[in-house]
Amino acid sequence: WAIYAPYVKAILALKKQRNAVILAHNYMTPEIYHGIADVVGDSLQLAIKATEVEADVIVQCGVHFMAETSKILNPSKTVLIPDMDAGCSLAESITADGIAEMRAKYPGAPVVTYVNTTAEVKAASDICCTSSNAAQIVAAQDSDTVIMTPDQYLAQNVAKQVPNKRIVWWAGSCIVHEQYTAKDLRDYRAWNPGTRIIAHPECPPDVIAEADFSGSTSGIIDYVHRERPEKAMLVTECSMASNISDELPDVDFVGPCNMCPYMKKITLEKVLWSLHSMQGAVEVDPEIAARARVSVERMIDLSR
Ligand code: 13P
Ligand code: SF4
Repeated sequence: WAIYAPYVKAILALKKQRNAVILAHNYMTPEIYHGIADVVGDSLQLAIKATEVEADVIVQCGVHFMAETSKILNPSKTVLIPDMDAGCSLAESITADGIAEMRAKYPGAPVVTYVNTTAEVKAASDICCTSSNAAQIVAAQDSDTVIMTPDQYLAQNVAKQVPNKRIVWWAGSCIVHEQYTAKDLRDYRAWNPGTRIIAHPECPPDVIAEADFSGSTSGIIDYVHRERPEKAMLVTECSMASNISDELPDVDFVGPCNMCPYMKKITLEKVLWSLHSMQGAVEVDPEIAARARVSVERMIDLSR
């Protein structure tokens, strides 16, 4: 922590000076998560929080689609992302043309789009979802067929939870969660009997089938707090375990460390620079933002 202390001190001072709040995703490194964040959470919690921000500036410690969502929901604020290249393999997998393609293939079916997408893609969709409400949003659609984009694995996992719907999907995937295999999990359990396996729904369905629990990043954190297993394997981004291990000293976190290269672009140095320079403001075309806002707000209303 000693090497981070000067950055943390400078960021906290600048945050006050700029009247800024820092919204940080659960995948941020511990020095961001514990050192400088005002709010931490999963995608849905951060989106809801963004609607409530009264400060002038939001610094989004997360990936670009999260900053864009904050800007869409609270357009009068300056939303800074400390690294414009903090993308997401899911967001990069589809454009608005892809949504049009799916609509042409399945006429009349509503499009439920994961928030891990650009504003243009949200604008072309009917409603958004996150990992914490996807099944609920799909179940609420007044149609037998539902299009889910762009995460094929989230769609396949939701299909198991909502069997009365025919779910068709776009073939995108998360480069972090697609790395896990069911065999890895089975082997891990055999080598470490008693390990509780907790997986994010961006993992393939056969991986989820091997897990004891599946949920959003905050759902995973809440599960470990509630259950306090002796050993826990979090089948998700590596910083999750680092962020909660200090507050759960009785839980032994085991398993591989898969990092999201996009999330890891956000560092204390870059947060300090963005607050100092006020560079890296996210802008969304107002017409696209207005249509994207409808998709995100529909999701928030259905999630309450
Ligand atoms: P959550 O909404 O569960 O936080 O997931 C966001 C994400 O990008 C997971 O890879
Ligand atoms: Fe995107 Fe996967 Fe990284 Fe989440 S972990 S931001 S879904 S690439």
